Amino acid sequence: MGASPVAELDEEALAAAIPPAERRERGAYYTPARLVAQLLAQVRPFVGEGPGRIVDPACGAGAFLSACATHFPDAELLGLELSETSARQAQARVPRARIAVGDALRGGLERLLRPGGPGLELWIGNPPYNGTSALLRDPLAYGRLRALLPPDFALPPGTSLRDDFAFFLLLAAERLSQRPGVLAFVTSATLLDAFLYAPLRRYLLSRLSLREVLELPADTFQGTQVRTCATIWTSHDAQATPPRHRRCASKELGFAPHEPAALAPASPDWLLRPTSAEATELDRLWRANGQALTTLLPVSLPGLKTRFDELLVDDDPARLLARVDAFLACPPEALADFARAHGLPPKTWPKLEALKGEVGVEQRAHPACVRPFFRYAGAKHRGALPEAARAHCYLSRALIPRGDHRLRGEYDPHRGHVKLLFNTRELPLAAALLDAEGCVHAHRHSRFAPLEVPARLLREGLGAARRGELGPLVPNLSPEGVALAERLGGPLLLFRALVGFINSEAVQEVWAPAFGALRDLPIPFDLQP
Ligand SMILES: C[S@@+](CC[C@H](N)C(=O)[O-])C[C@H]1O[C@@H](n2cnc3c(N)ncnc32)[C@H](O)[C@@H]1O
Repeated sequence: MGASPVAELDEEALAAAIPPAERRERGAYYTPARLVAQLLAQVRPFVGEGPGRIVDPACGAGAFLSACATHFPDAELLGLELSETSARQAQARVPRARIAVGDALRGGLERLLRPGGPGLELWIGNPPYNGTSALLRDPLAYGRLRALLPPDFALPPGTSLRDDFAFFLLLAAERLSQRPGVLAFVTSATLLDAFLYAPLRRYLLSRLSLREVLELPADTFQGTQVRTCATIWTSHDAQATPPRHRRCASKELGFAPHEPAALAPASPDWLLRPTSAEATELDRLWRANGQALTTLLPVSLPGLKTRFDELLVDDDPARLLARVDAFLACPPEALADFARAHGLPPKTWPKLEALKGEVGVEQRAHPACVRPFFRYAGAKHRGALPEAARAHCYLSRALIPRGDHRLRGEYDPHRGHVKLLFNTRELPLAAALLDAEGCVHAHRHSRFAPLEVPARLLREGLGAARRGELGPLVPNLSPEGVALAERLGGPLLLFRALVGFINSEAVQEVWAPAFGALRDLPIPFDLQP
């Protein structure tokens, strides 16, 4: 097959014309023509004489359908697209395709697809990925898609189907497990290795045959940082050769794939990419004589999320107190003047009004609620927090009504002087030690473990915080952690050693690339200071 007789439209320019908020909401990142061509080249060996029907269930402006029209002139072409504007662009670009406006996750495909149809069906495209699907807030639609999974298909704690692309994969797998076909989707690379998607991987591997995995370079989609991949699956074929994994060179080099490696996805992770032998050996050693970080430090908490930093966070404590005081004293009809006087941007004004509606008793701001606040930023603050991360927040339960500060009962985990800040099952792994009293900002999936916690919390878990006396502060360590701390010279020195270990070359360069998104880091008991 020739490499690229594709209608040369600039996909990035088309997508960039969509307003940014809408773009994020519907995951509108169009696929560069060279990647489309590369994916079609990879698909070719699996479609025999060519597909009878081609389906792009989230076709955008038609990047895939237009290329398919050239490569497979006899195939029926079907596209579905949420946005009317994009669907119109796709239709103009590929006049012979049947393109409908609709929502693939809410029955749109059922209306587009007939049950039977000609020969092999190729599902190809780049379904949206946006971190957290709006479907999770729509129990009816979520329930319908969740029902595609077998009744005994449990999602283990901490895992879920979270992103739109996962639901598109479910729909495609359902269809292609009932008729011959090929599935080739560009998705977030979390599909390959995230802990969250281990059940999805297991399910897809049980329904279809995985044939090719392409890990795509970081520069694939302009203006994004998301890691992406393409996976090619066929309807189940017991004779299929083992799947192959390849990394692709940068988009400037045309996504040329490197040498393939055979894959053998296996329980419990069902990883769709190879792991280095060195990483597997380290993981085995550390696990055999060590303990997962989150077990060694049994109590960890998410950071503070005010949802209203413009009002509740400031570098200057006096300015913060004055602002909150003025807000509390301000009558609802004068909120716009208050906002202007304090430089709060118009987009925050609805939040001000909502908060005013919720604030009950407080009339004046209390200086004791102004607390040090650290804008922890994960890997950017590896090791220790820089001076520039220091700020102040106004911490009051009335002003953070959704309880996202995770204060429970009287216990305030932010009070402690020493905390280990870290993330788990999310790349890049990083840790820092905070040894000053203050609230920690919620950075993505970061957590913090106080050096000391009330004895009952350690014994009974966080739920105990709402029930009565919590007992004296004790080191936040498992029995094995206590023994390890004794060897290293105390809990503080253990915390320092943990920071060093998590940020070490062995973890960062060897273990994390293989397992960092998948497992809790095991801490070896022979940890060095
Ligand atoms: C990542 S873009 C890819 C578009 C096109 N397939 C390409 O590769 O250039 C995802 C597209 O899916 C559309 N979309 C998002 N949610 C959808 C849904 N539930 N049903 C159908 N289309 C959807 C978006 O509007 C966007 O155009």
